[in-house]
Amino acid sequence: MKQFFFAVFTLFVVVFAQTSCYYDNEVEHYGVTVCDTTAISYSADILPIIQQNCISCHAPGGQQAVSPFMTYEGLKQFTLNREIVDRINGNGVSLMPPSGEISDCSKQKIEAWVNAGAPNN
Ligand code: HEC
Repeated sequence: MKQFFFAVFTLFVVVFAQTSCYYDNEVEHYGVTVCDTTAISYSADILPIIQQNCISCHAPGGQQAVSPFMTYEGLKQFTLNREIVDRINGNGVSLMPPSGEISDCSKQKIEAWVNAGAPNN
């Protein structure tokens, strides 16, 4: 268990050191990175993840002509059958974003939001 926390912490430090525009909602508690998935908010938690990782394609005029996610309604429809959760995990469908998985914490937040019924909060 200790080794796991150390690995997570090391990863956090490495990612932080390498990425000048690093952004995530992870918080550090006593040297251990914790992902807070309680009380997930669409506007405060989910939208920033989508804007950062998905909008470059999933918007009118985006790189690809695919479903637009800039609005709550545009995203919500892909939460009903949990397709968004399958996509971010590459679970039986092509991985989103295609360039590589988003952070574990971002994935956990999206999943928690979908499990809560994808509220518009
Ligand atoms: C580089 C461009 C690109 C990015 C970035 C991207 N997608 Fe996609 N996405 C696509 C393409 C192209 C398709 C349609 C082809 C397919 O199904 O694989 C698609 C399809 C989807 C679908 C199925 C619904 C549809 O529109 O066909 C979902 C859900 C999805 N993406 C979610 C996401 C999420 C969530 C993110 C960000 C975490 C993301 N995508 C980032 C290009 C992208």
